[in-house]
Amino acid sequence: MRLCLVAGARPNFVKVAPIIRALEARQHNDWFLVHTGQHYDPQLSDVFFTELGLPAPDVCLNVGSGSHAEQTARVMLGLEPVLRERRPDVVVVVGDVNSTLAAALVAAKLGIRLAHIEAGLRSGDRTMPEEINRMVTDALADVLFTTSRDAHDHLAREGITADKIHFVGNVMVDALLTHRAAAQQRSILSTLGLRGVDGAPVPYAVLTLHRPSNVDDPDVLTQLMDAVEQVSRRLPVIFAVHPRTRDRLGPMITERIRMLPPLGYLDFLALTSSAALILTDSGGLQEEATVLGVPCLTLRDNTERPVTIAHGTNTLVGTSASAIVAAVDRVLGEPTRAASARPELWDGRAAERIVDVLVPQ
Ligand code: UD1
Repeated sequence: MRLCLVAGARPNFVKVAPIIRALEARQHNDWFLVHTGQHYDPQLSDVFFTELGLPAPDVCLNVGSGSHAEQTARVMLGLEPVLRERRPDVVVVVGDVNSTLAAALVAAKLGIRLAHIEAGLRSGDRTMPEEINRMVTDALADVLFTTSRDAHDHLAREGITADKIHFVGNVMVDALLTHRAAAQQRSILSTLGLRGVDGAPVPYAVLTLHRPSNVDDPDVLTQLMDAVEQVSRRLPVIFAVHPRTRDRLGPMITERIRMLPPLGYLDFLALTSSAALILTDSGGLQEEATVLGVPCLTLRDNTERPVTIAHGTNTLVGTSASAIVAAVDRVLGEPTRAASARPELWDGRAAERIVDVLVPQ
């Protein structure tokens, strides 16, 4: 049973790491890793390989940035000969980025079985590029691994039969639980002056923004930064800036907002673990906040991860400055809550369950 694992962008690296760990634990060595090169900056790629203990990729496609069509096409052109030559039994794709979609198309056209990890998430918003990627990938997949039970309803509605679907939990949570202790050892809080005289973290917020709908539209981005500026009067805001966003911020940024380059996995986990509040438009961070028990305000009108609202700390607040500031006031005024029970099967063993299905003993 030869597996081809495909990863291309930052969140993909976090998701394949637990799979590789589980394959190694099973002593199943017949697999290879393809890095599409969708993310290529050291801070979006190399640092994740190092910190997550990922082996160097067996194949690098070096596709780089481009329009959606260009990026998808380049991954397809690069991957097809690799799959023809190496002849895997299953291609495993994760998440919902352009590399996921492209690899799914190539595998399906070559008649190779396709497994999709994190299947069945739906925001209902087809203006999100990821929503298209999710729908097409799931339609093509032979084996679909889901993180929450609501995913099954979405898949059933799209005609995908139950025999293909496996509810296994969340590999991103596997990674978080594996690396949480190492993150606690990082010195980033002290470096940023986020510890009080007693050594305990001071209250601060962590911000990330990278959705095209938020950062590519100047009116929306202005609203968001206006809100963040108001929040930064109450507590320090640490903004880890994605390259896509950096180019668009220009003069909107004020001194009170602490801008950092994209952070590695461990430093970022150290920061989010001790934060009073997370403000984000990321999908994965909504899930991480749920597990960490940190209040998360999602700067979007929808989420493909409603389990983080039902069972977690997440609230959708949209993009209007007044709504965001009101939500921050509310959250900071609440007494600190004990972390509630995690969503079902978010227990750090999702990758083991996936490998049980892919490589039965
Ligand atoms: C991609 C995913 C998104 C995911 C995000 C995680 C798609 C459609 N989007 O968004 O779902 O949440 O990754 O970060 O697949 N750039 C660099 N260095 C890099 C890579 C990109 O500077 O290493 C810049 C380039 O200007 C590029 C832009 O970021 O044009 C966007 O990169 P791209 O990979 O197209 O999408 P992301 O916004 O990163």
